[in-house]
Amino acid sequence: MHLLAASTQRNLGMAIAVVAIVGFAIYLIYNVLWAGRGEKGSELELAPNRKPYLSDEKLETSKLDLALVSGLVTLVIIGVALPLYWLGEPGRQQGYLEDSRRQFTSRGAGLFEESCSSCHGGGGLGGNTDHTITDDSGNFIAAIKWDVPALTTTLYRFSEEEVRHILNYGRPPTPMQAWGAPGGGPLTTQQVDELIQYIQSIQLDPDELQGEVLDGLVLQVRDDVLTANSDLSDRLDEANEAVADAGADEAAAEAAARQVAVLEVELREASEQYLRNLASPDRGELLFNNGVYGCARCHTPRDSWQFTGPETEPGAGPEELTKGSLEEAEMIAQLGNLIPADIPGGGGFGPNLTNGATLRQFDSAEGHVGFVIIGSQEGVGYGNFGQGDGGGQMPAFGVCVGDRDSSERSAIHGFCTLEDGSDRPGMLSEDQIQDIVAYERGL
Ligand code: HEC
Ligand code: HEC
Repeated sequence: MHLLAASTQRNLGMAIAVVAIVGFAIYLIYNVLWAGRGEKGSELELAPNRKPYLSDEKLETSKLDLALVSGLVTLVIIGVALPLYWLGEPGRQQGYLEDSRRQFTSRGAGLFEESCSSCHGGGGLGGNTDHTITDDSGNFIAAIKWDVPALTTTLYRFSEEEVRHILNYGRPPTPMQAWGAPGGGPLTTQQVDELIQYIQSIQLDPDELQGEVLDGLVLQVRDDVLTANSDLSDRLDEANEAVADAGADEAAAEAAARQVAVLEVELREASEQYLRNLASPDRGELLFNNGVYGCARCHTPRDSWQFTGPETEPGAGPEELTKGSLEEAEMIAQLGNLIPADIPGGGGFGPNLTNGATLRQFDSAEGHVGFVIIGSQEGVGYGNFGQGDGGGQMPAFGVCVGDRDSSERSAIHGFCTLEDGSDRPGMLSEDQIQDIVAYERGL
């Protein structure tokens, strides 16, 4: 509708421009080609001031009328065109905003593909990257793969300002480097805005998001549910064998695959039931360890690491660690105190939550839940002695924070406000956060 208004506006402008140009052309033709041609003969007779001018009669009738009418026409043009322009202006601005948003998003997509997708995966769906662990003096300790989070729910947890900070300054000491000019990175302010706009365009909707959170929990309990449900487990094994045995027999393969699908649905239902029956802190533990939707990736050491081997790095590291690859457990045993122990909640990018740390920080579970709902904000204290560092640290899990702290609302539009003006829900429900807190307070 506003696009229509914007183009009506443009058409009107074009019409006025055409009238002006044609008028000017007629004026030129009349003066240069036609009026100018008569300049022959005696100067005495031809000089314009020698020619008798129009009679008063003529001047006061048709000549005057012509002048008045043309004045009126000009007035009408101004009187009609200006209000029309004024009417179309909001539409034009809206159209411009949407246009530039689309442009930002597509440029951001290109940039993302170029600079980010090697780690964050195509479309920001998550991936991993090679990384080396070094000691404080830069000596090689181990080669690992670092799990890189999907960015499809980032704006539920962080505001756009916080994402801007993460892009500008990175997340040392993780493989996420500083990308923006303020942190010494290669991207301009506008490119960072384009990336944020792109990230906004790939956010899941709230239902998909809740589905993914649940998928993660179901996956974690799969083995437990199958163990507790040996009958279902046996039937699933049989069906999977039938799929393998079907070979080239298409009809049999299809029937077997259908049977597997039916059993998977049954397993899914059993898993959801299993999750509902768990004690709150146990469900909290699963939520805590739920990948990009959980807490362990920032609060448990090594949660994002997979060892790929202490490969040879010339001149670095203890000698016994540079001899080929070992089994991960063996490797970890060898690395000993060179790497942090993977104590749940033992700290990483976020602080250590064990040994009653959260009990000292939050007197009550309610205060603790409240903090996890809104996360930390720069310079804002929390709990008994907490101080938010800002810049994309402890995320908000229970509210979609949008651009509540952004001063650039018009440039980047609020993801957390739905079209109808209402707020989007956060990533986790309050019940889920209560479960996590019950787990955390027992660490
Ligand atoms: C070398 C690999 C690598 C590259 C390239 C990379 N990132 Fe990251 N990024 C990471 C890792 C690893 C993390 C998670 C760090 C952690 O564990 O806290 C991360 C975290 C993030 C986060 C925070 C996500 C969250 O929910 O905590 C954002 C946003 C982000 N990256 C955006 C980008 C953008 C945009 C680019 C491209 C300009 C980019 N990254 C390029 C590895 C990378
Ligand atoms: C992206 C990394 C990240 C993730 C994911 C994360 N946290 Fe945090 N968390 C932090 C950081 C960093 C702090 C320190 C506060 C700050 O600097 O803003 C923190 C602080 C906390 C604190 C306060 C600890 C104290 O003693 O001050 C609690 C409690 C907490 N987080 C719980 C959680 C829970 C529960 C989850 C998962 C639902 C979670 N965190 C996920 C980074 C993270």
